[in-house]
Amino acid sequence: MSQTADFTAITERMIKRIRATDAMGLNGFPHYADTTTGEWTTTPDGFWTGGFWPGVLWHAFDQTGDSALRDSAARWTERLSARTESRSVFKGFLFHFAGATGDMLAGDPKARELALAAAQSLQRAFHPSIGLIPLGKEAEEAHTVGDNDTNIDGLSASLVMAWAGVRTGDTVLLQTAVDHALRSGDYCVRDDDSVCQSASFDGETGKLIRNYTHKGYSDASTWTRAQGWAMLGYSYLAGIDRENPRLLRMAERVSDWWIAHVPSDLIALWDFDAPEQPSTPRDTSGTAIAAASLLRLAHAHPDESRARSYRDFAERTVHALCAEVTPTEQGDTRPPGILTRGCFDKTREEATEAELIWGDYFLLESLRILSGTLDIERLYPRG
Ligand code: GLY
Repeated sequence: MSQTADFTAITERMIKRIRATDAMGLNGFPHYADTTTGEWTTTPDGFWTGGFWPGVLWHAFDQTGDSALRDSAARWTERLSARTESRSVFKGFLFHFAGATGDMLAGDPKARELALAAAQSLQRAFHPSIGLIPLGKEAEEAHTVGDNDTNIDGLSASLVMAWAGVRTGDTVLLQTAVDHALRSGDYCVRDDDSVCQSASFDGETGKLIRNYTHKGYSDASTWTRAQGWAMLGYSYLAGIDRENPRLLRMAERVSDWWIAHVPSDLIALWDFDAPEQPSTPRDTSGTAIAAASLLRLAHAHPDESRARSYRDFAERTVHALCAEVTPTEQGDTRPPGILTRGCFDKTREEATEAELIWGDYFLLESLRILSGTLDIERLYPRG
């Protein structure tokens, strides 16, 4: 089978899984699932992950044209309405992947309205003298630290703000998205281009007080999704604000670090510094974020040969991820179309070998781009 045919077959399998999830009539947003039974653990209000469920539904609709999938995506997006004013920088995840994506793939007016409201709310939370949006008192998994802390996962705010800035022609909003991302990088991207998840700063002067991690192996280690979220944020912004060389440079730095350090089978451990043993969990979700980010960087890069090499690396990574989608071997009786081996939170031993809804999102999106059913341009806003 050719690689494209392979990608198309896995896309179809993943959409089968999305339809099966939709048919479960879940009360809450799918968060992570047991890969043996396919049973989801859900969140009532969407936590930071709830936007990826309507996100995969928007993609499944776009792939198939099935209006039932579109209606479901719209319903779940609307359920996030209560979250536009959440005091959490992570609502960027919710409203970029449910709202902005619903606008870009389906022209859904409610999705657009909610994403714009969230972007404007994030802009109001911007701390001008520090130059970024702090985590916020309701930041999921980080509410205990709050307003004098940042973390790289918060680059999700820049995604929806940049989308909204271009969509509405609001250059201040776009600039705020860029400022937030670059200032977060000052705190979290190390000199060797690896990423530390979190930082505390002095609320008056902005001086860095300490770097640490919420979910990684140690404060000095490189947690896989920290690197992945940095890759995603800078690569997307580099494709939106092509006049700003700092964005492209940051995207190259964090991406080149990933390429140089990921294991030879291309599936990252849950943390790059976790002691490597046969039982050490991998994180396919972080790996899928990296693949989707490299496709964005390839799209943004002005140098054709560098762009091609980022795309090739993304393609090889997606190929490796395809082998992790059920059935992974003959006689595998698990529900089909599940991306296995995502690690949600190793530090709390929660869902360390699971299907993770955001891993599904980034793999599905990448498969569609690579198999030619989604033009990557459609993931970028039009004014
Ligand atoms: N807080 C985002 C993540 O766990 O990846």
